[in-house]
Order: sequence, then structure tokens, then C-alpha cells
Amino acid sequence: MRMYDLIQKKKRGDELTGEEIRYMIAGFTDGTIPDYQMSAMTMAICFQGMNSRETADLTLAMRDSGDVLDLSGIRGIKVDKHSTGGVGDKTSLALTPVIAALGVPVAKMSGRGLGHTGGTIDKLECFPGFTAEISGETFIRNVNETGIAIAGQTGNLAPADRKLYALRDVTGTVDSLPLIASSIMSKKLASGSDAIVLDVKTGNGAFMKELKDSRALAGAMVSIGTLAGKKTAAVITDMDQPLGYAVGNSLEVIEAIETLQGRGPEDFRQVVFALGSLMLQLGGRAADEKEAVAQMESVIADGRALEKFAQFIAAQGGDPAYVHDPGRLPLASRVIPVTATESGYVHRILAEEIGVACMMAGGGRETKESAIDLSVGIVLKKKNGDPVRAGETLALLYSNNAAKEEEICRKIRMAYETGPEKKEKTPVIHGYIL
Ligand code: URA
Repeated sequence: MRMYDLIQKKKRGDELTGEEIRYMIAGFTDGTIPDYQMSAMTMAICFQGMNSRETADLTLAMRDSGDVLDLSGIRGIKVDKHSTGGVGDKTSLALTPVIAALGVPVAKMSGRGLGHTGGTIDKLECFPGFTAEISGETFIRNVNETGIAIAGQTGNLAPADRKLYALRDVTGTVDSLPLIASSIMSKKLASGSDAIVLDVKTGNGAFMKELKDSRALAGAMVSIGTLAGKKTAAVITDMDQPLGYAVGNSLEVIEAIETLQGRGPEDFRQVVFALGSLMLQLGGRAADEKEAVAQMESVIADGRALEKFAQFIAAQGGDPAYVHDPGRLPLASRVIPVTATESGYVHRILAEEIGVACMMAGGGRETKESAIDLSVGIVLKKKNGDPVRAGETLALLYSNNAAKEEEICRKIRMAYETGPEKKEKTPVIHGYIL
């Protein structure tokens, strides 16, 4: 078999066999197929696509390129959750303790932020002492003892995807449905859970800007998961503006804690409840959405979810006192209001631009090596559909760098699209794929 022939085949729009896909992924992982041939192949896939059988074969080949975790030492049905990435997306912080407090074990791999999107591990590191670098034994013991463990991606989980994603990133081939679906699902399937719930974002700040494309991506991932023998479901949620009000590491942790105290933003609460409802149903803890919602409301109201969060932070070396007193989390001392220049209504907030503004303030990474400032970020004061008067505050910038503030505030103001006519608020939950 020759990679050259496979590139020609895909370029013509023909279907690749399972054997050909496995040959290609094995060769690319061990370096016998060079980057330039693989780049030609990913570009051909971008133009010609892949059918569902090819996409599933690609996913399984990437899953099997490294370790597949064995979580059989953890009691109960392990349900994993994955978001396709957004701005202000602190969902895992609030969702995992709610679910764990209701008896569904959470054994989760998470990542760090890059570019305009944040990462769960960075947010958790706002708690002094917290570490996501835990051994496999500690990971399993913590899930059995406290109900939650969150670790960084292990070195050898789906290495083919790590190499391929880095190549796609620099060759303009990220935005292909079969490549995104297989990339995400290869890692999820290697992570060893019994069931998977996906949060597929849609809107200006998401990979998929159009609802129909987000639906197609969600559908593709659900069928791959199901085909691989895992119960899989997806929720399509809005990213036509940042989620909640807070963007930036400490600020997002505070908002997640407020949500666990029963007073978080409504859009964020809806996302947590939609995903939580599916996790409880797939985890065999609730018969339907009504029962799941009632259970989640009760563990938030009686403080069990917040207590679970504190236990989890302590089990991974963090100081749980910060959970009960989030005012101690690091926050930048300079708080600069960004004001509206015209009266009207907020039509949309360019989520990616807000994420980039946070990164410029030091709250995100431009490259994998960049250091980040956990104390900076942005708090939105106006969201889609809100009325606004000229001179009123649109958002607050938390900054530690006076020299950059003017440019960042300008970026935040530009992210707000306003107009004189009233605009209906967009729904937060756009649909389910079960
Ligand atoms: N996230 C991934 O892990 N892979 C993609 O291709 C896109 C988003």
C-alpha cells in the first residue's frame, strides 16, 4: 500500500477502506508517512469529506494509536462530558460536583486553554496547591473516595490525534466535520468512560457558526460513540455570546461557585442543567429530565454540590477554604469600565473577540508555552437583547497592565454589536441529539 495512492483516491472523492485508514494512521504516528503527505490527505478530506463509515474507522484508528484507559477499577457507570470549546465556558467546574453529589462517578481528562478559549485545568489551578498531575492510582482512588477526579491528558492518549491536530492547525485543515468529529471522539473513547455527553457549541464563537453544521457535527459524534459501544448523547448550546458573565480564570471560578450556591447566571445554569440531565439519565440515576432537574436542584439547595466541589479540590491538593470564601481567589486590582458609545439594544457579542481580549490582558495563551495571569479577565454587564444607554457600562476589564488597557477596552467595545431596534434573546439550548 502506498500513501501516494490513498491521496489520489481521496482527491478523486473515492471512499477509503478501513485497512487503508489504519495503514495511514499507523504510518503517520510512527513517522514513516511524512507530514507533507498527511497534509495533502487532510486537505483532500476537507474538500471531499468522508462518509460515516470512514469517519468511524478514522476515529477508532486514532483511539488505538496509544493507551486506552481502563477505568474498571471505578465503581458505577462513568459518564464523561466534553465541550467543543467556547468563551466563558466554566461548565465542568459546576457540573461535575453536581453530578458526583448525585452518585455518578466523574473520571475526567481536561486540558489547558489555548488562544481565545480557556481550559478547565487552568481554572482549577486558581486554588493554591491544586494539581491535575496525578498518578493513575490516585485518579482511580479519588473517584472511588470522593466521586470526582480531573487530570491533564496523559502523554500517550490518542497520540495520532495530537500529531494530526498540530498539523491541521498549521495547514488550514481544522474546519472539516469528519476531522473534528474523529479528533474529539478518539480522545473520548480512549479515556475509558462508559457513556459520553457532548456539549456542541453553535454561533459566532464556536467552530461551527451555523446551527445546521453544529447539528451535523453532533450527529456524527453521537453515531461514532454509539457505534463504539458507548451510550452517547449531545446538547447543542449557544455560543453567539460568551456563556455567563465572567471570562477569565478566577472570575469564572467565582461564577461557577455562585452557581453551586444557587445564584449563578441563568444561561449558564441552563447549560449545566441540560448536560447534567443527560449525564444522570445515561448514568442510570434519573428516569427522565424532570427527575434529573429535581435532583440537581436539591443538591444545590442543600449545599451538597458545593461541599463535593470542596472535597474534590482538597483531594487534589488545593485549599478548600477558597471554595467557601471565593473572595480570596486572585483578582486583578485595576477594574476598568468599558462604556457604550450609543444607545440601543445589544444584538450580539462576538465571543471570540472577548476571548482574545482576555488573552491580551494575560488571561489566555497565545502559544502553548505562554504563562498566564489567573487574576485578569472580563465581566460582561450587558448581554444579547439587553437595552443599553450611551455612557452605560457594557463590561468591566480586570487588568494588571495599564499600558495595554486602552487597546483591550477598544476590542471589548468592538465585540458588542448594538442597534436601535429591540432584538429577541437567542435560546441557550438549541436542541438535543440522542
Ligand atoms: N477539538 C479537538 O480536540 N479536535 C478538533 O479537531 C477540534 C476541536
